Amino acid sequence: MERKIKKIGVLTGGGDCPGLNAVIRGLTKAAIGKYGYEVIGYTFGYRGLYNNEFIKLTNETVSGILHRGGTILYSSNKDNLFDYAVEENGEIVKKDVSDVAVENMKKEGVDVLVVIGGDGTLTSARDFSRKGVKVIGVPKTIDNDLAATDVTFGFNTAIDIATEALDRLHTTAESHHRVMILEVMGRGAGWISLEAGIAGSADVILIPEIPYDIEKIAEKVRAREEEGKKFTIIVVAEGAKPKNGDVVIAKIVEDSPDPIRLGGIGNKLAEDLERIVNHEVRATVLGHIQRGGNTCTYDRILSTRYGVAAADLINEEKYGSMVTLKGNNISYESLENVIGETKNVDPDGELVRTARSIGICFGD
Ligand code: F6P
Repeated sequence: MERKIKKIGVLTGGGDCPGLNAVIRGLTKAAIGKYGYEVIGYTFGYRGLYNNEFIKLTNETVSGILHRGGTILYSSNKDNLFDYAVEENGEIVKKDVSDVAVENMKKEGVDVLVVIGGDGTLTSARDFSRKGVKVIGVPKTIDNDLAATDVTFGFNTAIDIATEALDRLHTTAESHHRVMILEVMGRGAGWISLEAGIAGSADVILIPEIPYDIEKIAEKVRAREEEGKKFTIIVVAEGAKPKNGDVVIAKIVEDSPDPIRLGGIGNKLAEDLERIVNHEVRATVLGHIQRGGNTCTYDRILSTRYGVAAADLINEEKYGSMVTLKGNNISYESLENVIGETKNVDPDGELVRTARSIGICFGD
């Protein structure tokens, strides 16, 4: 007979994201209060699982964290236990150490692992599931680029922050008659740029899904000037690129499973544009501010729903699955179907068409 679930372990992996603490809190409260499970949290993602480093999660330890960004469990985006750097005979070699993690779970009596992360972290979750570990995934990323769910938590906080930045850039752009560029995150997806751009009343929105022509952007700046508007606001996704050009890479993080860090397109665009328009052009890179600080109300609610849903899926024995949001309903999907399936902006979709209808230029 299957052992009754007594204890669950949870970890947060990959880049941090507003709402992680709210998921941990929702999961812990429901797991303890509704189902009587014990909960422990592994620290620093999979590294904690490998080193058997964890903290006990109780109603007290998760008290007061709902609104707080970051993660009380800390995170790492480098530790893939199926390809893990270990020292052997004075040399660093990559090895599959996932059995150590499974043993650690057995030793502590952990019956189910809840993994909160993005594509990389969830790939390992799927691989643990294939090894027979009972796993539940929760989708996290400010980029909102996971296909299996309509919304990942963290995204709405990021667009709120980017929108506020655009509001602030408006007043200074107007005072100096400048072109102001805001570079936002999102990797290969343009969701943050598109949605913050609409909400923050940008004149030009640049996204990876629609390569831009610098001349079209200059035309927009000139057209605004002819209308008497002496400033222009541009929001550019870090993954945007010119037609026949390439993305700008900020750095390569060698020991990361996803080593490319994008960044720098805002400054490149400022230089290119200043040569052909009659304005000063300045770029601001919003960077990790999009991931820090307090979690917005939407994400507090979504994260709480995801955390509680993860506890419910354990109770229903729906292992090997990830919680999702479809429309406004919480659902779930097999981890086998969610990995590597990214969701990009549809260049002909309703959101882009809406933006175009109110005169927003996409640089094409
Ligand atoms: O995936 C989330 C994200 O913030 C991306 O938007 C960004 O490209 C990347 O992570 C930045 O990673 P890091 O925190 O390693 O600089």
